[in-house]
Amino acid sequence: MRRARIVGTGSYLPARVVTNDEFAQRLDTSDAWIRERTGIRERHIADDGQNASDLALEASREALAAAGLAASRLELIVVATSTPDYIFPSTACLLQAKLGAAGCAAFDVQAVCSGFVYALATADNFIRSGMARNALVVGAEVFSRILDWNDRATCVLFGDGAGAVVLAADERPGIHASVLRADGRHAGILSVPGNICGGRVCGSPFLQMQGNQVFKFAVRVLEEVAHETLAAAGMSLADVDWLIPHQANVRILEATAKKLGLARERLVVTVDRHANTSAASVPLALDEYVRAGRIRAGHNVMLQGVGGGFTWGATLVTM
Ligand code: UT7
Repeated sequence: MRRARIVGTGSYLPARVVTNDEFAQRLDTSDAWIRERTGIRERHIADDGQNASDLALEASREALAAAGLAASRLELIVVATSTPDYIFPSTACLLQAKLGAAGCAAFDVQAVCSGFVYALATADNFIRSGMARNALVVGAEVFSRILDWNDRATCVLFGDGAGAVVLAADERPGIHASVLRADGRHAGILSVPGNICGGRVCGSPFLQMQGNQVFKFAVRVLEEVAHETLAAAGMSLADVDWLIPHQANVRILEATAKKLGLARERLVVTVDRHANTSAASVPLALDEYVRAGRIRAGHNVMLQGVGGGFTWGATLVTM
């Protein structure tokens, strides 16, 4: 049976680092509050001239180099982003042009913080079905553009960045199973409820969140979807070497691992240095652990997303 394997990973973080103390200098917050409630110490913020496709380009170049694949040989590009360069064309098409990969299919997936898992499952199905022999899957975000920098309840939580993987067809998995879920009835607890109409912004262009409700929802569905994905893959928790949940809040990550009965050492945590980079958080964390030699060939890794929509999902993959 034809399956998809991850044959290269890459990531990119903008150079500018913003510490918690920078927020404390101008808002009613503190490094202690942010660390205790979220585990976040710092985040990277893109320069004004850097868009999602620029971050995606750097991460993609690294992933392609790791895979030993020329961009011109790509057969599919899927970019997960909620902060695209433009309304259209898609960030995937802009990335394709920057990579010099003209000709292959390219499109964006919009599932907010679950975006990378949704994009990975989509590309996996292209490869399984024979529609593509390889794929570049990217999560790239500039959430700094949609934050109200005077709202202490949200602006301290997010950062910018990009992560990418190259998938290639193989007889061995690779990706064993993915489970994707959504419940649009909860759209209101995490949203950017704005649009462009008649040349003006209608509604609000800033992220709004009911933090407490999102927290509870995330912990519940991350546990549920882990079990569903293990069942779909015919595997058990004992088979999982690493859990990479969406990096939103270290308390959400630790609560999920605890509910699953998974040892803390098997939990991947990068939120302390990246903050919440939405669709970029999972591939960024994956690449960091791969490059550090911690996630290695043969390891079983569960990737999990949860976020606006509401959306959530998980993928189980052997590296
Ligand atoms: O990617 C998926 C989307 N995001 C998430 O998954 C985030 C999910 N939610 C969370 O991570 C947490 O709910 C937060 C970190 C957002 C908030 O933590 P919390 O423990 O749920 O705090 P809270 O919202 O209940 O707020 C507690 C207090 C409030 O003050 P009062 O009403 O008790 O006087 C807030 O106004 O903390 C206040 N607060 C702050 N204080 C200092 C909120 N933000 C800040 C801040 N600094 N930055």
